[in-house]
This record gives sequence, structure tokens and C-alpha cells, in this order.
Amino acid sequence: MEPPRVIGPAALAVEEAVVETSLRPRHLEEYVGQEQVKRNLGTLLEAARRRGEAADHVLLYGPPGLGKTTLANIIARELGVNIHTTSGPAVERAGDLAAILTNLEERDVLFIDEIHRLNHAVEEILYPAMEDFVIDVMIGRGPSARSLRLSLKPFTVVGATTRAGRVGGPLRDRFGAIYRLDYYDASDLAAIVRRSAAILNVRIDDDAVDVLARRGRGTPRIVNRLLRRVRDHVEVRGEDRITAHSAEAAMRDMEIDGEGLDATDRRLLLAIVQKFSSGPVGGAALAAVIGEEVETVEDVYEPYLLQLGFLDRTPQGRVATERAREHLRVLGYEVPQPRRAERADVGLWDGLTSEGARPEEAQ
Ligand SMILES: Nc1ncnc2c1ncn2[C@@H]1O[C@H](COP(=O)(O)OP(=O)(O)OP(=O)(O)O)[C@@H](O)[C@H]1O
Ligand SMILES: [Mg+2]
Repeated sequence: MEPPRVIGPAALAVEEAVVETSLRPRHLEEYVGQEQVKRNLGTLLEAARRRGEAADHVLLYGPPGLGKTTLANIIARELGVNIHTTSGPAVERAGDLAAILTNLEERDVLFIDEIHRLNHAVEEILYPAMEDFVIDVMIGRGPSARSLRLSLKPFTVVGATTRAGRVGGPLRDRFGAIYRLDYYDASDLAAIVRRSAAILNVRIDDDAVDVLARRGRGTPRIVNRLLRRVRDHVEVRGEDRITAHSAEAAMRDMEIDGEGLDATDRRLLLAIVQKFSSGPVGGAALAAVIGEEVETVEDVYEPYLLQLGFLDRTPQGRVATERAREHLRVLGYEVPQPRRAERADVGLWDGLTSEGARPEEAQ
């Protein structure tokens, strides 16, 4: 088995879960970045507090590790209520959800992670619960069975998903507020590194903060993880603080390049560039070549490569951009001519050269 990816966005082991919890901001004002979301959410929470009512249902979406779970917990804390956490795949039957719903106290938050993975029968229970705070349960079996309507105490659903497109219209419509989390810019990531370093009690130079922020893939979970690995690196060497030099050295040991890409990212880009002439290539073919599931490629690897401008998605498939090709070239990889250019070349060079001996390949 491959070792876990240091910069993979997914949460990892128990040790990590513990540290992640300790680094998690607890109040809205501690939550770095996402200014627009914070502003709108702040208003929504304040209004609910003043009215003494349950807040509107909130749907949070965005790539892994950007702070959805963190925000859900902040919402409950800011409202001064309890949070009950579950997830789409964990709620198997309608009865499971009914049990959770009937146990909620007034104004509590029900956090449903991976809400796009709720099954249909469960979703059906959720609709009237969210809309009118009622559920319909079946009592008895056979001819004597009847449906009983139970009323619930008003509560707030906070849903989180990495895939807004997978949340069906009827469910989406029941959220009063929908917030999209975006990748963080370098200055936000730098602020997160400083905050985490202070909590972890580790000294770090300003230029070392930048080294990590630049490689953090716009993702708080990843910069925090890089920070912990660099901390290990300096502690093992008996250094008293993180310098840019030690941060760079630790990144090299982990094979993380200047853009924050690791070996798997480069393998994916190289597959497109070398095996598919820079694309376009379909998701299934690409996933097969690098030995991953299509979903993993789409949810985990591609979003940041798209964000970096290293990948384009066209109707014909994924295309590696010139920026990606340049990045690989600088790292010393062989970068063959893209097929797209060949196609454009056909008209230009028609009749002048044969396919196998085009001028730019002869160089
Ligand atoms: N805005 C932020 N400011 C500071 N730290 C943050 C922020 N957002 C996230 N973090 C840190 O990043 C870590 C990951 O965040 P979180 O678990 O909330 O991500 P997520 O969006 O729920 O990810 P997933 O989709 O994998 O569930 C948290 O431990 C937290 O410390
Ligand atoms: Mg989460």
C-alpha cells in the first residue's frame, strides 16, 4: 500500500483528528478568510439570536479541508446550542433519521456531513422536517398500519458537501442559505500557519511561513499538515525554530514541489502529457492509467490542478495546459508536443512536412 499522501486533502489518522480538533477555530472571528461567507453567516446568526428562533438551514459546499466541519461547529457555538453530527452514508434507514430528529432540543444544530450521499427514503423524511418541523411515521403493519404525524422542535440543519451538483434540487431548495467555500489565498494561509504554530507552540520565521503557505494548495488542512511535518523535521534535528531553509528541506524530503504538488499530482499530469499527448483525455481513461477511482481523481486530485490553471476541462476531456507543461519541463521531465498543437499545425504545415518530421520535433 502507498503511504498516505501528506498533502492529500482527506483527513487521515486518529492522531491527525486530535490535532485537527485542537487547531479548529471555535468562533467566527477566529475563522480566517472566506470574508463574504463570514459576513453573511454572521448576519444570519445574529438575526436568529435576536429573534430567539432556530437559524435558517445552511448548506456549505466546497473542496475537502476548507473548513466546512469547522464552520458547522462554529454555527452551533455562536447560537449557544448543541450540535448533533451525522453523515449521509451513516443514516441508512428513514427510522434512523426519525430517531435523531425526535431527539433534538429546540434550536439545536443537526450537522449532516456528505449530505449528497443521503439515500432517497431518508431524504423524504428530511423534507417536511426541514420545512414544517414535522415527520410522518408509520405505525403498525399490514391493514392496520397508519401514518402518524409527529411535530418536532424547531432546529437547524447544517449540510456539508464537496459536491453541490449531487445535492438534488428539492433538498437544496430547503436551505435558506447556501455558502460556497473557496480555496484560500496565500495571505490567509499564512495567517492560518501563524495561528496554528502559536497553538502548537512552535517558533517559525516569516519567510518559512511563506514557504508553507505557497505549498498549502489553498487548503487549511494541508498547511496545518505541512506545518506539523516541518515541526517534526526541526525537532528531530534539535533546531529551536522553523527557518525557510528547514521548511524547504522538509518539503524536498516529502517530494513536494514549489507549487505544492506531490508525486501523485505529478504522476497524473505526466500521464496526460506523456501518454495522452497533453489531452484531451476522458476521466475514466486517466483514472485507469494512474490506477485510481474516477471519483478520487475528480474530487481529490483535479480541483486544485484546475485552480492552479494546470488542467482544463473541455467537453472532450481533460487537457494539460502550457503552464503544467512548463512546470514539468522545469522539473526535468520529458514533455512531448501536445496533440492539440499538432491539430492546429496540420493546416500550417500541410504539404510542407510529413507527420513524422515536423520542424519543432527535429530540434
Ligand atoms: N478558516 C479557517 N481558519 C483556520 N483554520 C481553519 C479554517 N478552516 C479550516 N481550518 C483548519 O483546517 C482543518 C480542516 O477543516 P475542516 O475539517 O473543517 O474541513 P472540511 O471542509 O470539513 O473538510 P472535509 O470536506 O474533508 O470534511 C481544521 O482542523 C481547521 O483547523
Ligand atoms: Mg468535514
